[in-house]
Amino acid sequence: MSIKGKNILLCVTGGIAAYKACDLTSKLTKAGADVHVIMTSSAKAFVSPVTFQALSRNPVHDDVFTEKVPHQIAHIDLADKADLVLVAPATANVIGKLANGLADEMVLATVLATQAPVWIAPAMNVNMYQHPAVKRNMTILNDMGMAIIESGEGNLACGWTGKGRLAEPEEMVARITSYFGTENSGLQGKNVLITAGSTREALDPVRFFSNRSTGRMGYALAQAAREAGADVTLISGPTSLAAPEDVDIVRVTTALEMYDAVLNRFDTADVVIKSAAVADYRPDEVSEHKIKKHDDDMVVRMVRNPDIAAALGQKKTNQFLVGFAAETQDIETAARQKMANKQLDMVVANNVAADDAGFATDTNRVIIFTQDGQKRAMELMSKTDVAAQIIGDISKLFTGDGSSS
Ligand SMILES: Cc1cc2nc3c(=O)[nH]c(=O)nc-3n(C[C@H](O)[C@H](O)[C@H](O)COP(=O)(O)O)c2cc1C
Repeated sequence: MSIKGKNILLCVTGGIAAYKACDLTSKLTKAGADVHVIMTSSAKAFVSPVTFQALSRNPVHDDVFTEKVPHQIAHIDLADKADLVLVAPATANVIGKLANGLADEMVLATVLATQAPVWIAPAMNVNMYQHPAVKRNMTILNDMGMAIIESGEGNLACGWTGKGRLAEPEEMVARITSYFGTENSGLQGKNVLITAGSTREALDPVRFFSNRSTGRMGYALAQAAREAGADVTLISGPTSLAAPEDVDIVRVTTALEMYDAVLNRFDTADVVIKSAAVADYRPDEVSEHKIKKHDDDMVVRMVRNPDIAAALGQKKTNQFLVGFAAETQDIETAARQKMANKQLDMVVANNVAADDAGFATDTNRVIIFTQDGQKRAMELMSKTDVAAQIIGDISKLFTGDGSSS
């Protein structure tokens, strides 16, 4: 996967997050993209055009009437040459104007003129983000075929906490990288089955056994596989995450339901990535009514759930099987044993005891083991980036004659 030589038109508008667009420019340029920047007048109140010029090594544009090359109309030329247009950060103002087809800024005229894909990365105060007018305008842009790169949640520069942070530059670079990888992706048109999240094993109508998996890693993998051109089915345990676009989602609750959902779809799958944290045991008996408390202790007998990965390993014909190993010690031995015992082709191992990796974090530090004895240890990175790397590795194995062998 590579964005080398791709012409990326970055439209920077007047929000406090304009400073993050500098980092984005730097990262894209370092990755080999040819980045061209257009700024609105307001954006220049936040960051100087000179900064973008230095980081992109290209002239920065801000005025539709200032033509730097006499025989070219700059906004049409930039619109025509772009492989991808990214508006980041996108203000409420620019989103509203674009939804209405206005063009009184060079950024707007260029976005209207381009035939390249347009991605919009909004950033604003949480209340602005949730305003019905802004939400409606984003829906209009989405319906027109522009992709909205959802804002993140957290502390906002305005002092409020909530949704409205610009997506992190590394996340945007990972998405762009995997988008451009599509053309050469070995996963184009392949059926990829991904499991995500935890399962819940009921004890009574109100209580269950579960674990700390949030599903973020599996959802990021589903998105990366989709962006690599695969037909993706995501089998998800309970989670609050929104389903990635263009992905078939199958929602399950228990390990037994997940087992059925995966096994029923296994025959038509080309790749199966098992990132869900499936409960190994479930209570032997599920009480019909809420269990009342007593003075004495309570013992719950747990029975073994079926091992989905092992069942797939036995049933496999030509499917490429990827498992996750969440370990707290002796990671390499455990990962290699798991690969051998369950006939997996790849194991992604992580140390879930670390604070910055594993369950309920936005970041992960993994080691990828493959059946040919290779091992690739990766730096700490966002789960989106980890997903892009894993999908990139799987994709490479499928490139060529189209099979994994
Ligand atoms: C300090 C400051 C921070 C701002 N941050 C944002 C922001 O994050 N998002 C936004 O939509 N507007 C923000 N605004 C308001 C925009 O700058 C204003 O709506 C402006 O007209 C946008 O112009 P543009 O869309 O042409 O770039 C901010 C204004 C100020 C003064």
